[in-house]
Amino acid sequence: SIVILDFGSQYTQLIARRIREQNVFSVVLPCTAKLDEIQKYNPAAIILSGGPSSVYDADAPPADPQVLHQGLPVLGICYGLHWMTHNLGGNVRPGAKREYGHAEVEIVKDSPLFAHLTGPLQVWMSHGDEADKLPDGFTLFAQSPNALAGMHNLEKNWYAIQFHPEVHHTRQGTEILRNFLFEIVKIKPNWTPARFIDETVESIRKQVGDGHVICGLSGGVDSSVAATLVHRAIGKQLTCIFVNNGVLRMNEFESVQTNLRDKLGLNIVGVDATDRFLGKLAGVTEPEKKRKIIGNEFIAVFEEEAHRIEQESGKVDWLVQGTLYPDVIESQSVRGPSQVIKSHHNVGGLPEKMKLKLIEPLRDLFKDEVRRIGRDLGMPEDVLNRQPFPGPGLAVRILGEVTADRVALLQKADHIVVSEIKRAGLYNKIWQSFAVLLPVMSVGVMGDQRTYAYTCAIRSVHSEDGMTADWVPLPYDVLKAMSNRIVNEVKGINRVVYDITSKPPGTIEWE
Ligand code: XMP
Repeated sequence: SIVILDFGSQYTQLIARRIREQNVFSVVLPCTAKLDEIQKYNPAAIILSGGPSSVYDADAPPADPQVLHQGLPVLGICYGLHWMTHNLGGNVRPGAKREYGHAEVEIVKDSPLFAHLTGPLQVWMSHGDEADKLPDGFTLFAQSPNALAGMHNLEKNWYAIQFHPEVHHTRQGTEILRNFLFEIVKIKPNWTPARFIDETVESIRKQVGDGHVICGLSGGVDSSVAATLVHRAIGKQLTCIFVNNGVLRMNEFESVQTNLRDKLGLNIVGVDATDRFLGKLAGVTEPEKKRKIIGNEFIAVFEEEAHRIEQESGKVDWLVQGTLYPDVIESQSVRGPSQVIKSHHNVGGLPEKMKLKLIEPLRDLFKDEVRRIGRDLGMPEDVLNRQPFPGPGLAVRILGEVTADRVALLQKADHIVVSEIKRAGLYNKIWQSFAVLLPVMSVGVMGDQRTYAYTCAIRSVHSEDGMTADWVPLPYDVLKAMSNRIVNEVKGINRVVYDITSKPPGTIEWE
């Protein structure tokens, strides 16, 4: 594998993704990782990420300089270059000019890192400091107008560049990473979905033995793929629980079961707890309260159901969870945990409460890799390409009180938005598109009749990971079709508006 030590750059995850796109396994470890922790991954090379600090900052993230002396090839990126320079006897200083954004890099000497490339290179820079004295044994091979851009020590197999090869703005970034992997490290690209599935199935079988496993399905990609993978490993020893919390989308309770039970043979218990959830939500308008109620109620229903399963078929030992790699990285980040804006609800609280051991078969994977695995497992495309949907469902898209009538209104409007997005061929190009029901009523006129009804907002955003998002400038004719259909087909909504707020400062969901 390739071990990436994280000095806190916002791009560190991207480095791992770009490497895995080359079918080479890579992991991100915090820069403070101990040598024996790093060795566990049997690394063929080390990559040192960028980071926001200066090597001279009092709180500069510390790493063990011995990582440089394991006889492995090393690639330092941005802060990684400064850190190598600083630790190998060179000098780093605050740059005369900060370089941020596009820059042109001149190749001044051949380097295996730039094999097959001709300069100048169009790259993405983001740094204040720069190296002004190379450590002994290093040669400069690339230069930008303001700073040293690349240096190597061929004898030691040490390479460092000032720019970011992992971001798309660096046009030949992939080539540079490929050169590192295949010209320098000479690693074999054998990390494939088929191999991942074989290894994971094998290890789940060993882990579980003849134990009994349950899984909470949400209908989303992650829990569906996790369940299918575990099903591939242990078949009938897995029981999936799918709870209708009354705020799912139109027909979702049925279609998820059809897809996974009828098409893939999973053992699914469908629990319709609509009344229970809506009962608890009655009269509640405060967003965080809604989230808490749904989260707690979900745990209660799930626990009861698991209890019932235990009485019918024996003790349950394990819980499957669809945790993904970005969450794992986030929780170990040197930047520390981020502030809570919304209390996200998934099955997080379950394992401690129910004393279950966890199976997290996707905890090494990124979202796009989960889809690749799902495809290899023969899962239907409409499950794999589903846009994200929040755990608290339509409740966080119904502003004000959540009632059965208002859920039904929003389900219809949402269904129209999604089907028009699909009809325009945009569904797989957009992160999320949905309708939001506002508590605002306004006057309209339909067929000479006065109407006084609710307003609905359409939200459509592009995003890489849900952390930031841009609103999508949907074509006017798509917006027009949505608006016409909603006002005509959904009795109770007489006005449609379009949300043109990005994140930040807005969030994607309205509550
Ligand atoms: P926000 O609204 O925080 O949403 O900008 C970011 C992404 O997260 C989804 N989301 C959730 N997902 N449980 C989830 O599993 C939740 O409670 C939850 N709240 C928001 C949201 O749909 C978007 O993709």
